[in-house]
Amino acid sequence: MFEKVCESAKYIKENATMQPKIGVILGSGLGDLVDVIEDKEYIEYKDIPNFPQSTVKGHKGRLVFGKINGVEIMAMQGRFHYYEGYTMKEVAYPVFVMKQLGIEKMIVTNACGGINTEFKPGTLMIITDFINLFGDNPLIGVNDERFGVRFPDMSEPYSLSLISKAEKIANQIDVEYEKGIYAGFMGPYYETAAEIRSIGGQGADAVGMSTVPETIAANYLGIEVLGISCITNMATGIQKVKHSHDRVVETAKKASVNLCKWVEKIIEEI
Ligand code: 6GU
Repeated sequence: MFEKVCESAKYIKENATMQPKIGVILGSGLGDLVDVIEDKEYIEYKDIPNFPQSTVKGHKGRLVFGKINGVEIMAMQGRFHYYEGYTMKEVAYPVFVMKQLGIEKMIVTNACGGINTEFKPGTLMIITDFINLFGDNPLIGVNDERFGVRFPDMSEPYSLSLISKAEKIANQIDVEYEKGIYAGFMGPYYETAAEIRSIGGQGADAVGMSTVPETIAANYLGIEVLGISCITNMATGIQKVKHSHDRVVETAKKASVNLCKWVEKIIEEI
């Protein structure tokens, strides 16, 4: 895999003029950040050797390089989900490529369901830790020491220093936020009420279908991670109405304004 990742990175280096140190992965309905990127350069996933290909029609699949307030970043517009049938290694592949491109810090966002009853739809939550319920992870298999160690530490999956910077900035610009634990569930169905009671009992504040694979890979590779969730609805059994993906996206889009403002400032200051 190391050679494949290098080949992907080589193509990207040849086709982008910037060398960002910050990578951003944007969740469903939370893509507005791309609009405020300046001097954009696009690289389509389909043109990158060995890169996983987007299967969902109408979903964008490209890397966006550019600047936010003068700071170079690269963003993934379109991410890969385990429930689409990708392997964990494929889901996390872009993070391996980011490392090879020189990315040192990664900001990940997602739309998810709230389990903590203090939360409301629209709440922004800084992820402090994760619970991996995928029953799989991207590090399974023979280890290549060129990437990282066989048994990586996972005691600080989300960087305490990035969390404290994000909190400071939120207070400065008056963005309300909560902090909590994100449980990553494989999906694609929204959990049963019994599953939510069980996951809540295990300590999770929110539940979603992404982010955990990328976070595991980033920690393994030595990339610092900041994760921010947008609670788009309450989880099954906590809210009375049935789930709808359209409502998830609609709520995410509304919250995206504040999230965007916040992430822009974070990028400027980290
Ligand atoms: Cl309730 N569950 C999961 N797994 N993902 C979600 C969600 C719930 N709401 C938004 N995304």
